[in-house]
Amino acid sequence: MNVLFIGDIVGPDATAYVAHRVPELRQQYALDLVIANGENCAVSAATPWQGFGMSTGLVELLLQNGVDIITSGNHGWDGPEAQIVHQHPQVLRPFNMPDGTAGKGIIHLNIAGEDVTVLNLGGKTALDEALPVYPAWLSAELRGNVIVDFHSDAAWEKMIFATAIDGKAAAVLGTHTHEPTIPMYILPGGTAYVTDVGMTSPTGSPGGFPLIHFATKYKGEDFSALPPYQMSTGEIILGAVRLRIEDGRTLDIERIY
Ligand SMILES: [Fe+2]
Ligand SMILES: [Fe+2]
Repeated sequence: MNVLFIGDIVGPDATAYVAHRVPELRQQYALDLVIANGENCAVSAATPWQGFGMSTGLVELLLQNGVDIITSGNHGWDGPEAQIVHQHPQVLRPFNMPDGTAGKGIIHLNIAGEDVTVLNLGGKTALDEALPVYPAWLSAELRGNVIVDFHSDAAWEKMIFATAIDGKAAAVLGTHTHEPTIPMYILPGGTAYVTDVGMTSPTGSPGGFPLIHFATKYKGEDFSALPPYQMSTGEIILGAVRLRIEDGRTLDIERIY
């Protein structure tokens, strides 16, 4: 089966761009499954709560235009619609969260007769509340072709995890940093591994928006008086990988720009 995995979508314009491109990509690459990390799809200068999360409207826009599953991360719960968004059957959040956290972290699908599991994990460097990843992985019910979105800051954590579970997942695909990493691997057991798929976002600043609020806070200064976040204004780029998966192993992987 052919799978497209789209890294962190940053902002409504990038969301609209994905919605516009996915139908064409589905045809071009004969895609069976499209997964997109949407944790930041609603970030916008116009977002009244100045959060980074997801909205029901943008999630629906993605799902109506050929995205099958939306994964998430530390920002998934930002914003006033977080509870409703996480009730959606096609929306995931990191699996390794404490009991009582809104949403779910795993989904089982059957696509053209093949079982597929999409599992969303989160590292502690991205989510303070996250529980240890490996025990959570062991507790997950895995069926068929297993595709993992590992949302974490820590490259080594993702690399070691992928090596530890090589052969038990078809792919471990990193998200969260928004910065695409160059090498892509197929480990000896058949697990594809990418440290970070990279952002789908307007270009012009690291992360998809000028980081002045982060930098001000970093310097120990008050950032509350700064104007709301502004999105970058450059051309929108797609951060995505396409995988060909058979019998739980990835046969080949390529970047799609
Ligand atoms: Fe993100
Ligand atoms: Fe994140």
